[in-house]
Amino acid sequence: MVLKPTILVSVGKLNFPEDVAAKLSDVGDVVYVSGDYSIRLPEATAVVVSSEPVNDTYLAKAPKLGIVARFGVGYDAIDVHACTRRRVYVGYTPDILSAAVADLTWALILGWMRRITEGDTYTRTEWEKRQKEFPFGWELTGKTVGFLGLGRIGAEAAKRGYGFDVKMIYHDAIRRPDLEGKYGLKPVGFEDLLRESDVVSVHVPLLPSTRRMLGRNEFCKMKPSALVVNTSRGGIIDQSALAEALEQKVIAGAALDVFEEEPIPLDDKLLKMRNVVVTPHCASGTWETRRRMAERCAENVRAYLEGRRPPFSVPEQSGYSF
Ligand code: 8YV
Repeated sequence: MVLKPTILVSVGKLNFPEDVAAKLSDVGDVVYVSGDYSIRLPEATAVVVSSEPVNDTYLAKAPKLGIVARFGVGYDAIDVHACTRRRVYVGYTPDILSAAVADLTWALILGWMRRITEGDTYTRTEWEKRQKEFPFGWELTGKTVGFLGLGRIGAEAAKRGYGFDVKMIYHDAIRRPDLEGKYGLKPVGFEDLLRESDVVSVHVPLLPSTRRMLGRNEFCKMKPSALVVNTSRGGIIDQSALAEALEQKVIAGAALDVFEEEPIPLDDKLLKMRNVVVTPHCASGTWETRRRMAERCAENVRAYLEGRRPPFSVPEQSGYSF
């Protein structure tokens, strides 16, 4: 009997449904794993991974591995060079989650500005007592929204912003004249973005050059009324500097889906602040998007197991065929 290749899936059945797994049964055996699954790595030919680090230590335990299929677009936790050296493909799921992340970006902006989470708590616990008025929020009309990064997700967020009566500016190493014309976006320098924005929304990937891109100095340049929104990666913001800036009212608020440490510890200062809205790294977490992500991971795995190049491999590997 010939054993089929083993495909380890660490993202769980909710993210990688059993019917998607079943469709791979002609090319491999899907094994769902959780926690520290390193004991299973020696048998793995393919892995579908969440945000666990895939580095030399990981790869050394997986001599048969040919593909790391990242369940997501950000692959900062994967050492692509180490994978390439070992002739291991790195697949990912770009484009298909941009809309969901852009939706959550605006949900966070509006949620913070209109005090949705506070309003929810007030309605359930205090409204009837009428002991205190529910405080006003702010409106978007006339505000300046600054996009830090205008890649796939930033562009989708800007598309949605076009529907609001806001001024939109962006800062990115790559100019996008097409989007500037289409959505009325103005390119600005980094410092101008910090100074002019009422809302600073982060859409850059986590790279050595973007790590802690927003820290104490940057918060000091922002308006005291500014809101910082992050649906990208926690590491882009110096989180203790953010907490300090919020405490000292250097800026007005933060709406965060991502954190330096995830899950964010329950005793973290940020979780005690009323001017902070948080969600649990769920920007891509819709039924539609997560299914598409699962299917795309499966497509990448299938291609590799059939001896083809994975159709969605990371750009750093575009010149390589293993
Ligand atoms: C992932 C993400 O789904 O795409 C990304 O990079 O951060 C999310 O969409 C999440 O990390 C689960 O792996």
